[in-house]
Order: sequence, then C-alpha cells, then structure tokens
Amino acid sequence: MSEETVKVLDTTLRDGEQTPGVALSPEEKLEIARKLDELGVDMIEAGSAITSAGEREGIRKIANEGLNAEISSFSRGVKKDIDSALDCDVEAVHLVIPTSELHIKKKLQKSPEKVKEMAVETSVYALDHGLTVELSAEDATRADPDFLKEVFQAGIEEGVQRVCVCDTVGMMMPEQIHELFSNLVKDIDVPVAGHCHDDFGVAVANTISAVRAGAREFHATINGLGERAGNAALEEVALALSEFYDYETNVDLESLQEVSQLVEQYTGIPISPTKAIIGANAFAHEAGIHTHGVLAESTTYEPISPEVVGQKRRLIFGKHTGKHAIKDELERKGLEPSEEQVEEVFQRVKDLGDRGKLVTDAEWSAIVDDVMGRSLEELVELQELTVTSGDNVTPTASVKVRFKDREFTEAGTGVGPVDAAINAVRKVVEGISNISLQEYHVDAISGGTDAMVDVVVKLTDGKRIIDSRGSSEDIIKASVQAMLNGVNRLLWDKKLGEEEED
Ligand code: KIV
Ligand code: ZN
Repeated sequence: MSEETVKVLDTTLRDGEQTPGVALSPEEKLEIARKLDELGVDMIEAGSAITSAGEREGIRKIANEGLNAEISSFSRGVKKDIDSALDCDVEAVHLVIPTSELHIKKKLQKSPEKVKEMAVETSVYALDHGLTVELSAEDATRADPDFLKEVFQAGIEEGVQRVCVCDTVGMMMPEQIHELFSNLVKDIDVPVAGHCHDDFGVAVANTISAVRAGAREFHATINGLGERAGNAALEEVALALSEFYDYETNVDLESLQEVSQLVEQYTGIPISPTKAIIGANAFAHEAGIHTHGVLAESTTYEPISPEVVGQKRRLIFGKHTGKHAIKDELERKGLEPSEEQVEEVFQRVKDLGDRGKLVTDAEWSAIVDDVMGRSLEELVELQELTVTSGDNVTPTASVKVRFKDREFTEAGTGVGPVDAAINAVRKVVEGISNISLQEYHVDAISGGTDAMVDVVVKLTDGKRIIDSRGSSEDIIKASVQAMLNGVNRLLWDKKLGEEEED
C-alpha cells in the first residue's frame, strides 16, 4: 500500500519558546532552525514577529538563511502583526483567530460576526502582501463546529492556503478529535492541520487521531515543549506514524536525538530520562533479566532498534545488574575475565547500588580496571585549589594541576564559589585536552551541614560521553574531584585504546 505524506509544522521556536523560562537568542534560534531543516520538517514557525526587536532579528535571520522549509511567523488577526511578519521577510503567516465563545466573549469582547470579519480582513491583507496564510482557529475544540467551519470557509474563499484546528488547552480525547476532524475535512478543500496540547497527556494520541481522520499536516515541538504541559512531541508523532500507520513524513528519524539534545541545551529544559524515544533511559537496561534478554535478542526489551532514532543502547550498572550483563560487557571490551573476576565486579557494583548510588561510567571503569589488575593512573593531578568569595567580592578560584611533568594554573570567576572553581578547572582542562563539561549536578546531600555531598558531572572528549562522581563534605572539593576523575578516566581510556592499537 502506498504511503500518504503528512506535512510537519515545527513550532519549537514559537509555541516551544513559550515554555515558561525559555528565551532563545537570535543565534540560538537560527542554529535550531538549521537543524530542524536538516531534520526535514516542512514548515518552521520561527517565532512571533510582534514580540520584540530581538525576536524579529531571529526570525529575519532564519527567513534569509535559504532553508528548504517554509518559514512563518505567528500573527494575531491584526494588521500590525502581519506588518511585523512582513518586516522579517517570512514567506508565510500562522494567522490565529480565537473561535470559541469563551475566547470571543471573555478575551476579545467581540461578537462572533466581528471575529469572522477580522479573520477575513487580515487573511486578505496578508495574501495581498504575498504571504502564504495558514488560518488557525484558537480553542477550536471548544468552539461551535458550525462556526468553526464558517470561519475557515470564509478564509478559503479569499484564498488562504491551509487551515488549522487548535486544541489549545487539550480539551478533547482521541475519539472526539477523530470525529471533529472527520466532519471538518469532508467540507474543507484545503489541507487541514492539527495543533494539540498535552494538558491531559494525549497530545500525541490526538495528533495521530487527527491525521487518521484526514489532517494532512500537524504541528509539534521537539521534546514536546510548549505552553503549560506542552505540545505534541514531534519525535513521538513522527515515529508512531512511521511505525504503526501508512503515513510518512519527511522527518529523518535518525537525526531526532541530535536535534532533541540541541533544543535541550539551548532551552535549558531538561529531558526526562524516561521520555519516550529521546530520553536517556529510552534504550537503557539495568535489571538483570532485561539486560540478559536484550543481549540474547534485542527485540525482547527494545521495541525498535535505538539507531532508528539516532540513539544508542546503554547497559546501566547498578543494584539490578545481573552477572550476564557484566560478563558480556567485559568481553565486549576485549577482556577475558575469570568467573571470580566477574563475581568480584558483580559484588562491587551491587555494593554501590545497595548504598543507593548509581554507578557512574568512571566508577564502573575504575572497578573493572581494579579487578582486572590494570588500575587507573592519575594522569592529571590536583596540586592546589584556592577559592575566595564573600559579600561584595566576585567569587574567584585558582587551580593548579600537574600533567605529564608540567604544571598548569588557571583562574576563574563565577556566580558563586562552586561556579568559579568549575570555571577554573574547565580552563585548565581545556589547556591540556579537548574535554568539555556537558552537565553538572549535585546528586545527593544527606544529613546535616557536615554531610557528604555527591557531585556528578557529564564530560565529553567529542567521541565519548561519560559521567563521573566526586564526593566530599565540601561541595567545591566534590565538584573539582568529579571533574578531574572524569578527565582522568577519559584520558586513561584513550591511552589504553592507543596502546591496544599499537
Ligand atoms: O495552542 C494554541 O491555540 C496556539 C495558537 C495560539 C496557535 O498555540
Ligand atoms: Zn499552541
């Protein structure tokens, strides 16, 4: 059976940016837009031009980048919004008109007739200025379906190229969405899009339902960002359509993970580890039965192969790890462990797990090296750490390390003493390798003010990403130790790898 193509309008840079706490710079928007274009989305809603001068700069940069995707700006049904969009050189406007009685009466304080007139007038204005118009009905799922159709038809008569039904506050369940779209598409001669929010956790299901009922475009955001509970997650809808239905999108599924991480980095909104498809645990296995199963036959506990969406399988070592996984992983590293060595690694991993700790990559490797008799050499050695901070003083730190018989000293400032120390260590590390810090978090603080603090960092040398821990009663020491433990681990693994190649 031939597959029907469904178009994707990505609204990460508009609805996604409306996630509380997110504000992207023009450069960040441009970089995300480039990645979205490579991903294969058909349309990019780059922002809302009326919002600010910075927003217009970002939209303009994207519009003039020569991307394949259609670039649009959000616009209310007012001419000055359309003028702002025109000022940004976009090709299209996402023209949004409230359609429910609630929005019309309480928000706009207008009559339905007046709102319909607004829709027509502004559609004509945008079309006359050469813009493609997607006429969107806000709060459409709470609107009178006849009025909704009337507004769309009035716009279509003037020439709008597409219409969109917004489930603005996630007020419908998948069956209701199916009914609404089925009734609508039979009377509408232009492509109908669905824009679903996740207030009841069914935005993805609703979007799929809309497509199954005849929508030939859907709106979505990377990582499901968006107002309140967010929008339908693009990665989930695209994968579900391709795995379970006869629809295709132009989305290159293998690039999903990369785009998702870029969006996470720039928006600062962390992806839950258990998030479908792109979460850190989506293809991670810890429990003994699961790792055993996956190693024997991946489909036992993996619905798709992780590479399909640009992910990698991860075997996590911790409290639930089984011996099979340990043996397999050691052999995968080219080691030939005896039964006793497997047992010893197993016990040490369980001990850490029982103390409620996740076993970081650095700890796992340190255990393996120790048991297999090839202990980690401390290649970068901390010699001195000095930190000053206080009222009316910029927190400053200086760090001295020894590496290959040379001393390296750097100073850093920060918003607090920990930040200053991390910045100093970052600089010193940059001077001796290409290792950089990706994530930092305080993993566990227990007890009183003299409690042990666990700091876990994620570091990368461009080829590998590892996590590593530092523990101390002093958070600054724990932070510096976590960084240096990870750096030593990456450098040591590289050295071992090079020796094995020789
Ligand atoms: O959810 C919504 O209704 C919207 C519109 C403003 C397009 O994002
Ligand atoms: Zn929305």
